[in-house]
Amino acid sequence: MCGIFGIVTKNQEISVGKVVFEGIKRLEYRGYDSCGIVSLYNSKLFIKKEAGKIDEIHKKIKLDEFPSGSRLALAHTRWATHGAPTKQNSHPHLDCFDKIAVVHNGIIENFLELRNELTSLGHTFKSETDSEVIPHLIEDFMKKGNSFKDAIINALKKCKGAYAIAVCQIDNPDLIIVARKESPLIIGIEEGKTTYCSSDIPAFLPYTRKCYIMEDDELAVLKAGEVQFFDLKSDNKLIRKEMQTIEWNIDAAEKGGYDHFMLKEIYEEPDALRFTMKISDQLLTKFANALISADSIYITAAGTSYHSALAGKFIISKFLGKHIQDMECSEFETQLKCSLQDNSVIIAISQSGETIDTIEAIRWAKKTKSVKILTITNVVGSSITRYSDHVIVTNAGPEIGVAATKTYSTQVLALALIAVSIAKTRKIISNEEIVKYQDALAGIPNIIEQFLEKNVDLIKYIVNNLEKNMNYFFLARGISIATAKEGGLKLKEVACRFIEGYSAASAKHGPISLVREGFPIIFIAPPDETYNRLVGNVMEFKARGGRIISVVVESDVKITKLSDITIRIPQPADKFHNLFSPITFMPALQLLAYYAALAHDLDPDKPLNLSKTVTVH
Ligand code: AGP
Repeated sequence: MCGIFGIVTKNQEISVGKVVFEGIKRLEYRGYDSCGIVSLYNSKLFIKKEAGKIDEIHKKIKLDEFPSGSRLALAHTRWATHGAPTKQNSHPHLDCFDKIAVVHNGIIENFLELRNELTSLGHTFKSETDSEVIPHLIEDFMKKGNSFKDAIINALKKCKGAYAIAVCQIDNPDLIIVARKESPLIIGIEEGKTTYCSSDIPAFLPYTRKCYIMEDDELAVLKAGEVQFFDLKSDNKLIRKEMQTIEWNIDAAEKGGYDHFMLKEIYEEPDALRFTMKISDQLLTKFANALISADSIYITAAGTSYHSALAGKFIISKFLGKHIQDMECSEFETQLKCSLQDNSVIIAISQSGETIDTIEAIRWAKKTKSVKILTITNVVGSSITRYSDHVIVTNAGPEIGVAATKTYSTQVLALALIAVSIAKTRKIISNEEIVKYQDALAGIPNIIEQFLEKNVDLIKYIVNNLEKNMNYFFLARGISIATAKEGGLKLKEVACRFIEGYSAASAKHGPISLVREGFPIIFIAPPDETYNRLVGNVMEFKARGGRIISVVVESDVKITKLSDITIRIPQPADKFHNLFSPITFMPALQLLAYYAALAHDLDPDKPLNLSKTVTVH
């Protein structure tokens, strides 16, 4: 999971080095352990690459300075899979004669065989990467007389695995050739002037909103201000694709005055949720009907999306009256090998739509049985959508911070909307109650807005209070276990603290032995049917010296009395609002993680060892 970006232009006014440098900075969320840029000028490739974060590298080697006459450049930001994050392993990779440069996102699974084959033909490799086989394969086919384009087509035929590539070659100074299979690639265009290729839209959004989303097995030839697409599955024939216009603007993709994307994206939650509410009734009904008529139902995802699955299954099964089996996507095939049945429905959740384990889970299920895939994603046209029967796009806007925030709440909201649609279709509650659930959903953005307005100082105070503690718990019961787990994940990933999100009841069966005088425990405590038992749990932990911090609703009394500090969510204490508390309670925990990261001098947008999209097993 890396980011690639490229430009070919006629515009003499712009510096292609500057444009691609800015472009990969906007893609840095995809990987940030090394980066590189190549520009082509006067039949020569000019290359700068290095290990490290983009800004650090830029300070050393001025990543935006290239020959001023150059009209073509490619850039790459890397998240290492094959080979350590070093200068040698960073992209672009070249052929033996420094004529061909390739940037690649994905994995060439058979690279070892290809590398051996190419080495025996006399090729010399400079890196340990899988990607480097691509320029050498192209070189080989060009040596045999193939045109630049045909050499790429033939090279890709030999590669197994996933790729989005962009290639330039010194004898074809006016073209970039790109191709895609299972890794995202979008072409941005300023007609007649400039063409861009990118792993994601924000990289070219300052220049154009017009774009083409490439599909698997497509190749495109990019010239300044024009592009041609070819279908590699059907004899490489020329195809017409529909140009799309992006509705959101670059402000949505940049920090907009906030110190970090994570903070900006937490504050964007109310609006993102308002967008998600616009999912059409028709689409929700499709999801509802598929679930109502299914024999078995599974819900699968990874990481934060899995936590939204845990919350969502709770909300949906309340109205569906059927069991929904949650399953981490990486375990899906192993666990269901002997038991998956026809007429099952699988809800797959992935904000990026590119998580390989989620995609493989549904691909396997589709291949094995007659199943229906219902997908929730934030990215239109992402890979997961190709394997899905129905797709809900959450429309949260781009999420750049590696830690998922607004994509989590919008996923849970989408699942809650499906749940209410099921309640309507099945007519299992009165119309009056349905309206109350709908009103509760409609009120969520305001509740979060009010919370964010008034509670930042309290959250900072709690962060100070917790600062010296490396470990603590988030405990909860019922639906809030999902909230506790997600809160724990946020603190682990951005603040590097070992925080466990756990069931308050199960914590008595072992973890309670960690509690000493002053050990902090954060209870997630909406006033739902589990509340009174949770009061008992709070007392048990308090009796053992635990420092109690609780997240409660405004009118809470009992748990407040037992707590050292309370975070109060401004929402009514009724069953309609309680059901959606995974959405309204989460920003408190996200903010806590954000300020905890700052308190420990960590960059919340770039957690250690993590990447926004995990496209390896
Ligand atoms: C959490 O903040 C992470 N971004 C991570 O757990 C993420 O949710 C997971 O990798 C799944 O990603 P997806 O939603 O894009 O499939």
